[in-house]
Amino acid sequence: MNVLLLISLALNIGQVLSVTFCQVTPTIQLSLGECFVLSPDQTTDVQSWGIRIGIENASEICIVPSTVVNSTFLTSSEICGDDQLDMQDVRMTKDQCRSRRGGFITKSSVPSFSTDGLDVLNPGWVGFSNKIAAAANATLKLLIQQIAVVEGLITEGQMSTTSHLGLASSSSFLERLKLLGRIGAKSWGLNSGSQSHLSPRGGSLVLGGFDQSSLAGPFFDYDITTAKPVENRFCPLQILVTGLRMNVQTANNTLSRVLVDRSNKLEACIEPYDNLFRVPQAVLDTFQSAFKEVTKFTGERVQPSEYKNALLNLEPGIVFPKDAGDFNATLRFTINYNQTVDIPFYELLRPLRGLDQKGKVVVEEKYNEVQIYASPAPGDAPVLGKAFLSQVYLYVNYEKMKFYLAPQNLEASTPLPVASESDSCGISQPEAGRTAETNGLIAVGSVLGALVLVLGALAVRRLLRCLKARRGPPKEAGTEEARSPTPDQQPLGTDHGSQFENRANAGTPPSQGFSGSAVSLTSQIRQVDPHRQVLLADIREADDGFGSCGNPYDISMGRNNQGPSYA
Ligand SMILES: *[C@@H]1O[C@H](CO)[C@@H](O)[C@H](O)[C@H]1NC(C)=O
Ligand SMILES: *[C@@H]1O[C@H](CO)[C@@H](O)[C@H](O)[C@H]1NC(C)=O
Ligand SMILES: *[C@@H]1O[C@H](CO)[C@@H](O)[C@H](O)[C@H]1NC(C)=O
Ligand SMILES: *[C@@H]1O[C@H](CO)[C@@H](O)[C@H](O)[C@H]1NC(C)=O
Ligand SMILES: *[C@@H]1O[C@H](CO)[C@@H](O)[C@H](O)[C@H]1NC(C)=O
Ligand SMILES: *[C@@H]1O[C@H](CO)[C@@H](O)[C@H](O)[C@H]1NC(C)=O
Repeated sequence: MNVLLLISLALNIGQVLSVTFCQVTPTIQLSLGECFVLSPDQTTDVQSWGIRIGIENASEICIVPSTVVNSTFLTSSEICGDDQLDMQDVRMTKDQCRSRRGGFITKSSVPSFSTDGLDVLNPGWVGFSNKIAAAANATLKLLIQQIAVVEGLITEGQMSTTSHLGLASSSSFLERLKLLGRIGAKSWGLNSGSQSHLSPRGGSLVLGGFDQSSLAGPFFDYDITTAKPVENRFCPLQILVTGLRMNVQTANNTLSRVLVDRSNKLEACIEPYDNLFRVPQAVLDTFQSAFKEVTKFTGERVQPSEYKNALLNLEPGIVFPKDAGDFNATLRFTINYNQTVDIPFYELLRPLRGLDQKGKVVVEEKYNEVQIYASPAPGDAPVLGKAFLSQVYLYVNYEKMKFYLAPQNLEASTPLPVASESDSCGISQPEAGRTAETNGLIAVGSVLGALVLVLGALAVRRLLRCLKARRGPPKEAGTEEARSPTPDQQPLGTDHGSQFENRANAGTPPSQGFSGSAVSLTSQIRQVDPHRQVLLADIREADDGFGSCGNPYDISMGRNNQGPSYA
């Protein structure tokens, strides 16, 4: 008996079974990072940051995940009209404006729609004194996915930069994707990458699940809040900062300052749309005094008008001349008494960056910028943006009204998406105290284990059948095909193009946990047993199809060769 044939048969059956008997829950992966939009009819390309998506068949734009809004908001060409070019005391060029906005659509290229109801659905947007003057029902093109959804159009105002991919608790985009069966749950996971100068990297957005490869430690879970804004800000992702310590490395020693402790703990919003830290006035004051103590800098921060000829600063932080000295500070956050998050110095300080007159990204080495917003947070509501998220993976599940934070794997490459919705294939869920790497190994281990089982069961079965066959005439062998409809196979996410997606490897959703404590997610070990049972039961059922004792290839299995895989 040819053992190799048997092994390859078992491998094939393993694939058929995993596609046949597991309800694979789909997810969508999008890559996040530097976003360039080429524009033949404009003078310069757009240089921005976010996810590049197509709108109808007309244009591409850069869009940023946002919990500021429930609706998706697209920048429209009016936003760079002559009356919209003044950003505080700096006047933008049209090219700067276009890059700042991540490009824009033109109203005439998209089907217009009524704005009715958008105010009510987006209290946070209206609260920031934004107007909703126009809306569209345009098709968003995410590589091969096409989703028509009602969007607000951003035609005026300086309170935001790029288009918003609305992912707040009543996200119409997520609701539509779920309704159309493109994702299994209203959930998303964000690796926000890094926009630091020393160590920049891209990230990913998984819709309908999270990315296992982005995890470097256990998830901590928190409740999602919709009822109560933080100060005046509507934000679903609220955390309690119970500690914030700043350590500054100087030539001689380390200066340490407590900015927040248990006695003055504060509620903060996590907001993936924002970049910088936004802190209340009191924290800003403490910070600035420490800053002056460490550096030779005594004056006020450098104003955007001072460097406007060199560049336009999109979100002005605390800018100071480079020759004032280093400010090698790190921040340590304690969230809800339990989870600590360390922000390294290169996420806090970088050379001044912005857009030149042509809208191209440039760096002005004469200045440094601390990534803390220079004016106190609006309404004094603290916001933790992408500088914070550079160190933590964020997973939001509106089906459970929970969100989860885990240390981010800074070396994550191709996402390994795990769907939020449970299904019979549940292989891997991250677990408290376990890293993505061990999860991956165990996933591989359990797949191998299952294959060995399949192999063994097959061998025994065949032996029995063949013995039986010698005693009586063999039954007619039917070739039973994979039964449940196979989800159409998408190419696995790789680096081609700025977007990619696949049908996810599935998993069960995290179980409930204590707020702010390490979550004990469904144990992978515990899942191996039901998984095995499924496989064994299925072998029994599918056995009729294994054909005669002579030729193991009677069975037709000429498909599903590129099913989802962890390898
Ligand atoms: C987009 O494509 C459709 C047909 O697929 C066509 O009717 C429509 O005119 C196109 N729109 C633009 C702006 O090119
Ligand atoms: C999203 O909609 C829900 C329900 O309408 C609302 O409670 C919440 O405040 C909205 N979120 C934002 C950020 O506007
Ligand atoms: C938006 O347009 C699509 C077709 O492109 C349609 O199926 C959908 O119903 C429209 N949405 C609304 C709210 O009318
Ligand atoms: C601060 O960081 C910079 C950049 O890495 C480094 O060159 C410098 O030596 C550091 N200074 C101190 C005082 O640690
Ligand atoms: C650091 O040490 C040097 C020499 O030991 C001393 O001259 C300088 O004043 C010290 N600086 C601070 C900030 O203490
Ligand atoms: C902190 O975590 C521990 C276990 O990790 C848990 O027992 C405790 O309840 C948590 N504390 C809070 C305030 O959530």
